[in-house]
Amino acid sequence: MTPVTLIVNGVTHTLKIPREAPLLTILRNDLHLNAPKYGCGLGQCGACTVLIDGTAARSCVIPVGGVENRQITTLEGLTKKEHPVQQAFIDCQAAQCGYCLNGMIMTTVALLANNPHPTDQQIRNALSHNLCRCGTHLEILQAVHRAATLMSRPKAP
Ligand code: FES
Repeated sequence: MTPVTLIVNGVTHTLKIPREAPLLTILRNDLHLNAPKYGCGLGQCGACTVLIDGTAARSCVIPVGGVENRQITTLEGLTKKEHPVQQAFIDCQAAQCGYCLNGMIMTTVALLANNPHPTDQQIRNALSHNLCRCGTHLEILQAVHRAATLMSRPKAP
């Protein structure tokens, strides 16, 4: 088996794993990064979302061989402290069971990187394929707006 090189949260890992293995499986089982969740396993729910070169992607349907030497970021890798998007979701109590939160947060991070002040409709469009069965959609909408506000504030020196 040819080793696969993955760069996850800034750390390079060389692993003897099948190139066709789903990225989600390797993140959770081999690298013990459990923020990305297994929901549908079909690329439809968003629970497994990670960033690949800054773009939100469904890790359950991406073979590791396809993301070799790309910058993979999981929720664990956003920051050592609370990321403003995480803080906004806490502030707005935008979780009930919390299973969807990894995907909601990672998708929001990607959205705000490209569009720092999205409208309600742009947020709905960005998160429309991230499923939440608890129904905290209004709080999630508020949280994305709050995250945009937190991230636009000047950083303390
Ligand atoms: Fe990957 Fe549902 S588990 S999209």
